[in-house]
Amino acid sequence: MTVDLPRYQILEGTLRQQIESGRWRRGERLPSIRALCHHYGFSKITVQHALQKLEAQGFVEARERSGFFVSGDPGEFESPRHASIMEAPKPVSVSEVFQDIMTRSAAFDLLPGLHRDEPPPGIIQLNRSIGRALRRQRGSFQYYDEPAGDRELRHQLALRFAKRGWTAEADQFCVTSGCQQSLFLALMAVCQRGDVVAVEAPGFYGVLQLLEQLQLKVVEIPASPQNGMDISALEEAVQVWDVKACVVSPSFATPTGAVMPSGARRCLLELADRYELAVIEDDIYAESGWRGVPDTLKAMDGSDRVIHCSSFSKVLSRDLRLGWVSGGRWHSKILQLKLTSQLASSRFLQQGVAEFIAEGGYTAFLRRFRQSLQLQRDQLLGLIGAWPVPLRATTPQGGLTLWAELPDDVDTLGLYSRALEEGIVITPGSLFSVSGSFSNCLRISFAHRWNEARVGAVKRLSELVT
Ligand SMILES: Cc1ncc(COP(=O)(O)O)c(C=O)c1O
Repeated sequence: MTVDLPRYQILEGTLRQQIESGRWRRGERLPSIRALCHHYGFSKITVQHALQKLEAQGFVEARERSGFFVSGDPGEFESPRHASIMEAPKPVSVSEVFQDIMTRSAAFDLLPGLHRDEPPPGIIQLNRSIGRALRRQRGSFQYYDEPAGDRELRHQLALRFAKRGWTAEADQFCVTSGCQQSLFLALMAVCQRGDVVAVEAPGFYGVLQLLEQLQLKVVEIPASPQNGMDISALEEAVQVWDVKACVVSPSFATPTGAVMPSGARRCLLELADRYELAVIEDDIYAESGWRGVPDTLKAMDGSDRVIHCSSFSKVLSRDLRLGWVSGGRWHSKILQLKLTSQLASSRFLQQGVAEFIAEGGYTAFLRRFRQSLQLQRDQLLGLIGAWPVPLRATTPQGGLTLWAELPDDVDTLGLYSRALEEGIVITPGSLFSVSGSFSNCLRISFAHRWNEARVGAVKRLSELVT
């Protein structure tokens, strides 16, 4: 038996569904009552009744003499939808096409190579510090540095983390050649071939590559675009499967820019204690936060289960190839693995960076860098706000990228190939999971200045999408 709904309820449901699907964005004006009457063939009373119902539910707000608007701040998008499917652990196999995209996307630039930005003053100062350190080297070119890395650099790292809630000692750090190597050493230290590792979905594709390389199985835990990994889903996973480690980015995760709230962080660590998990924290974007830098997860780690991994790549220079890992209870194993795989790191680079930090150059650089990032993010939101397709997008407060969800029928892998023909590099959503999800999503970077060419590239993308 079908029940005939009153006409106002039919219209109310239609409009609500359109708002939820992003047909109209926050702050946007709905069509006038007259236009709605005309479009749907309903009376004025019916349309008013439907709008009043939506207003009472907080979906729209009436503005005097202006009409009805979708509730929320203008300029902000509806959030992308939260993935909810969790599949059984499986081996990872990253296809060659994806490897190729990953290599290109690592530049975070829509137009890589063509439009290199001038180095900011901070980088020039850094180069001088490195140059001085190089000139100070005398006989040391015949010796390796100690495997853990330059003590002064590790001391400077410890001082910086004291400001992020973690009282660390220089001995707790091991210098690496980037966060990717830190993650690699961390996974090698805690896992054996065939073990199951929990990761965020969507999450960093570099971790998927590592899992494939190490022949580990992945279980993808849904992550919300605002709050990151869903800890209740992780709990379900660890109850059912023998999960060894969990890789998580609590502060400005890529691709969404999500920040895990402190309550969820606590639950994660409790879970790790209960199920004996190693928690591998990828903290690489934390210092980019312009509304504040979140504490590291390591600051809450009462049982030394967190392996903290990071680098200077995302905030200072990708080309330094300088990162670090603090391995908690697995630290001596990690030091041994570093020794076996790399022997040592370049001494003059470490000393130059240590001097740059100690002299305050890094702090000053970060201040300006965060301001530029915020501006570049706002400009990007403005640019994609003009796209003629319904769009959901995150509004991150840090990190280098936002996550956009396009209509279901858009295939961003196809878009990638078409854009590449014109020299534009985008990062399709399907890269951020092994499940085949997120095929209508896109990671868009605001790491670079919006010069005319890059603005043109964003506009061209919108044409390709439509
Ligand atoms: C989340 C995340 N972790 C780690 C890395 C690798 O960083 P690095 O260049 O320091 O090896 C990246 C680079 O894109 C990243 O986005």
